[in-house]
Parts: sequence; C-alpha cells; structure tokens
Amino acid sequence: MKENPVYCAIDVPEIDAAGQLARQLRAHVGGLKIGKEFFYAHGQAGYEKLAGYGQNIFLDLKLHDIPNTVAAAVRTLVPLTPAYLNVHAAGGAEMMAAAASAADSAADEAKVIRPKMLAVTVLTSLSVADLNDIGVNGTPREQVLRLAALAAKNGMDGVVCSAEEVELLRREMGPNFNLVVPGIRPSGAPQHDQKRVMTPEAAIAAGADILVIGRAITQNPDPGRAAQAIADSLGMGE
Ligand code: C5P
Repeated sequence: MKENPVYCAIDVPEIDAAGQLARQLRAHVGGLKIGKEFFYAHGQAGYEKLAGYGQNIFLDLKLHDIPNTVAAAVRTLVPLTPAYLNVHAAGGAEMMAAAASAADSAADEAKVIRPKMLAVTVLTSLSVADLNDIGVNGTPREQVLRLAALAAKNGMDGVVCSAEEVELLRREMGPNFNLVVPGIRPSGAPQHDQKRVMTPEAAIAAGADILVIGRAITQNPDPGRAAQAIADSLGMGE
C-alpha cells in the first residue's frame, strides 16, 4: 500500500480544536504540520498531545539564526521525534550544516529516528520587487534553485517549495531530494489567499513527495471525510 503523502496543516491556536482535528484525521492523512502559531502557544506539551494521536509530524518552525543557536534549537526538538523539521536556507551554508549535524548527533544520543531536515528557500509571499528590496537580484526561481542547491550541499534532505517550482526542482535536484509542497487545492475547493494552487494529483505527478494541505481539510464540515476524498483521489489504499 502506498504511503499517504498528505500532511494536514493544523493552523489553529486552540489546543482542544487542534486535538479534535488530530483525532478526526487519524486514519485519513499521512501526518500533521504543526507551525509557529501552535508551538509558541502550547510548546512541547502541546506538541506531545497532538503527536499522541499517532501521526507523523512536520514541525514547521523555519529556524533562522546563527549556526550555534540553530544547532542548539534542533537538539531540543529532535527528542520530540518529528518526521520533518525545517530551517531557512537564507541562514547560509554553515547554519544548515550545523542544523544537519545537530540532528544527527541528537538523534544518536536520544536513540530516536533522525528527522528529515528541510530548507525553506524563498517565501512565496515575496515578489521580485520584495527580493530586490532586500538585495537579492534575479528572479525568485533563480533564487529558489540557488538555495536548493546550497541546501543539498549542506546536509538538507529537501526543501519546502511552491507547486510552481516542484517540476523544476525535481528535474534539477534528482529523485532523492524531498519536495514538500503547500498551496494544494483539490479541484473545486476554494483558493482562499493562495495565488498559485495545484491539485493533489498534479503536484504528485510533478514530483512532490509531501503535500501540505490546510483549509481544504480543516474548514470542511467533515475534515476526516475531506482528507479521505483526497487520499482516494491519489489512489491510496489500492
Ligand atoms: O490552508 P492552506 O492549505 O493554504 O495551508 C497551507 C499551509 O502551508 C499553511 O500552514 C501555510 O502557512 C503553509 N505555507 C504556504 N505557502 C508557503 C509556505 C507555507 O501556504 N509558501
């Protein structure tokens, strides 16, 4: 049986609502994405409560600081056993290498599975003009490719990327680089504030490994059913 590639973004700050979603989605997704909104509010105890429902977790904290501080943060997070953990590629080669090696040593020490380390390349909220304002010349695509290559060279297992870049990155980065893709909408679902969306089937066909899907599941009156419909559309359980 294929592994379900859908991670549901639990973008709610209330712990009871998050727990209810985690329970409802248990049999219908491959994992949950926990971000800053939830983690800053509820910390490790909140994380453990959600993880207690037995799902894989993508801990989306987008770490970005000096190498020593990011490495120390990674060491505190590895014992929580997230399946994926991420940092900003813009933190640089040394920072990414420090994060990767901290993940190795902390996993060894705690005798747990090492999380896959992902890099965030260019935030999709940034336009060409925004990039120029912060001194980055060239297009977002060029910058994404540059940072993805730097990430791969410095111990990262993959990147978070938009649906628009997944095909290019799969081609350039080879088959073993993990591509985690948000901005996914099943056909017919509302786009909300996402400007460039792709269906789950199209994103997988373009080379995505993991699909991060939030509101199309969480705002459905029956989240479990919405998630199962997506799994069915991807041929899960066949
Ligand atoms: O509700 P929706 O499916 O749009 O949620 C997508 C999730 O992925 C949110 O947690 C959002 O912050 C995150 N994300 C995104 N676009 C990016 C990076 C992350 O939508 N470029």
